[in-house]
Amino acid sequence: MQPLPREHHLADHLDTILLSEARIRARIMDLATEIEANESTHPDLTLLVLLHGSLLFAADLMRALSLPLYLESFRVASYHGGTSSSGALTMDPRALAALRGRHVLVVDDILDTGRTLSAVTRALREEAGAASVTSCVLLDKRVARAVEFEADYVGFPIGDDFVVGYGLDFEGRYRNLPYIATLKPEAIRETRR
Ligand code: XMP
Repeated sequence: MQPLPREHHLADHLDTILLSEARIRARIMDLATEIEANESTHPDLTLLVLLHGSLLFAADLMRALSLPLYLESFRVASYHGGTSSSGALTMDPRALAALRGRHVLVVDDILDTGRTLSAVTRALREEAGAASVTSCVLLDKRVARAVEFEADYVGFPIGDDFVVGYGLDFEGRYRNLPYIATLKPEAIRETRR
């Protein structure tokens, strides 16, 4: 096989590895134990996965849970490219309707300004008529909050750096990295050219 051109090696774009695969794996096992302890009374727990960013996290979290559960997913986009949240959300009304009367655990990759989860959880309660709504995030950028929102389950609190990997992207790339990392400033600038 031909070696990839230098600019195609994703690892060359990265600054630091913030969370290794092993740390992520271990924390997910703990989160699953916490979730099972609190949510086992709900006979119909539904994991609602916010795509695309939470794809890898949700796949690992659900395999760590031994509760019976349903799976639903939503496509929400608040970044629309770039490294700051626009706050504009798109939610499919038919997907919301499917959650009426369900106990919903929303699974998201990262809680940043809080706009996404506050809008999604409000819509689940007020529009969809979910029986209960809780949320689980892998990462929590507490310092970046623009609206008041706390998740019920948090994997790791992190600082304000833009992070990629393990489902998280920068302009659609880096989702396939098995760990969470920060990007070199040049990688951000090069993509913008
Ligand atoms: P809000 O600001 O609504 O953001 O809490 C939640 C969504 O924004 C995306 N997001 C990020 N994506 N690196 C990313 O790749 C980041 O550092 C980052 N911060 C926020 C993400 O899609 C999340 O669901």
